[in-house]
Amino acid sequence: MKKINKKKTLITGITGQDGAYLAKFLLDKGYEVYGGYRRLSTPNFWRLQYLGIFEKIKLIPMDLIDINSIYEAIKISQPDEIYHLGAQSFVGASFDVPQATAEITGLATTAFLETIRHINSKIKFYQASTSELYGDGAYSMLRENSPFRPSSPYAVAKLYAYWITRVYREAYGIFAVNGILFNHESPLRGLEFVTRKISNAVAKIYLGLEKELVLGNLDAKRDWGYAPEYVESMWLMLQQPEPDDFVIATNETHSVKEFVKEAFKCVSLNFQKYIKTNPRFKRKFEVNFLLGDYSKAKKRLNWEPKTKFSDLVKIMVNEDLNRWKKWQDGERFAFDAPFYPSEKNIINRSL
Ligand code: NAP
Ligand code: GDD
Repeated sequence: MKKINKKKTLITGITGQDGAYLAKFLLDKGYEVYGGYRRLSTPNFWRLQYLGIFEKIKLIPMDLIDINSIYEAIKISQPDEIYHLGAQSFVGASFDVPQATAEITGLATTAFLETIRHINSKIKFYQASTSELYGDGAYSMLRENSPFRPSSPYAVAKLYAYWITRVYREAYGIFAVNGILFNHESPLRGLEFVTRKISNAVAKIYLGLEKELVLGNLDAKRDWGYAPEYVESMWLMLQQPEPDDFVIATNETHSVKEFVKEAFKCVSLNFQKYIKTNPRFKRKFEVNFLLGDYSKAKKRLNWEPKTKFSDLVKIMVNEDLNRWKKWQDGERFAFDAPFYPSEKNIINRSL
């Protein structure tokens, strides 16, 4: 019988939210999945363990500031598709470490494209682009051709990566695409991002483990979708006959305050009793409004979001509530929150 070769993929940022969901999605599709990860003093595989896929992934040591390790990772995995999701992805931190952000989030993309060009120009490449490219000041529906005005070192680094991806597509005919994804959240979201900060705090407040929730700008608006649905769009982009760039969004925008209100509603508490604001959680340069139009993705990829805003909030709050309850009962499992330092102990230079 003829042996069917499995498709191979290399995912960077495998330990992050999207990397973990995408790995699961591609494993379910029958791919052989390689994941680039960097050495940390304490291993950080909790998301892969949480999804029950840790043992199924072939891990390759790789740091985005080390071009040789990028080259080696591609040589070893010989992938059909690369999903480049690794990044210093927290906008706030990019004001603290702007230069590292430029290298990790921006420049590293060139190392992937150059390696593809040299060793196998048939490898398809996905670049994790972002709605942060649009920056502040656009109070309208944002599309693939809307202007970019990056408002943080993170967004400037992503702007570089966006354009170098297009340049390699045009100049060398590489199948390289930009997924311009608007915010997408889940129970696997990092705790420093506002949605998970809220869902985790609401769960702890409900269980009497915390007294208040302190945030920055409650009026900022985001187009929030559900991460497991967004990773499918990445795969769809690489299955098209021609490479192109796509906005992935929900066509809805909600304020941070609405998220807070909805989250406290899940546990029947009045948010006004627990919410506080502190300027230390405000950005130096804020993106006040983001709203995306996914109609090109709907038409060409047949992709559309399914989870509505209020359901997303429920999924996140319920999951954090279950985790904390189990943790209080002495159960131990892959879970980030108990090991996260109190924000009071973090000197906040420029969130
Ligand atoms: P995330 O949870 O913060 O994951 C980022 C990943 O990058 C982690 O695996 C991290 O590894 C890895 N990484 C960071 N620095 C690295 C380095 N120097 N070398 C190797 N790996 C490194 O981010 P996410 O939410 O999954 O987002 C995935 C990608 O999509 C990112 O590029 C992000 O900028 C972009 N994006 C996200 C959203 C969103 O709403 N989630 C929207 C648009 C675009 P460690 O675990 O070791 O830190
Ligand atoms: N993190 C955080 N913490 N944000 C807060 C807080 C707080 O205490 N209080 C208010 N906010 C506001 C921020 O000022 C921002 O306007 C909004 O909440 C969302 O912040 P984040 O959750 O940190 O996400 P982001 O929108 O800056 O960036 C995320 O989405 C981008 C796509 O638009 C990240 O995932 C980026 O990597 C991604 O590119």
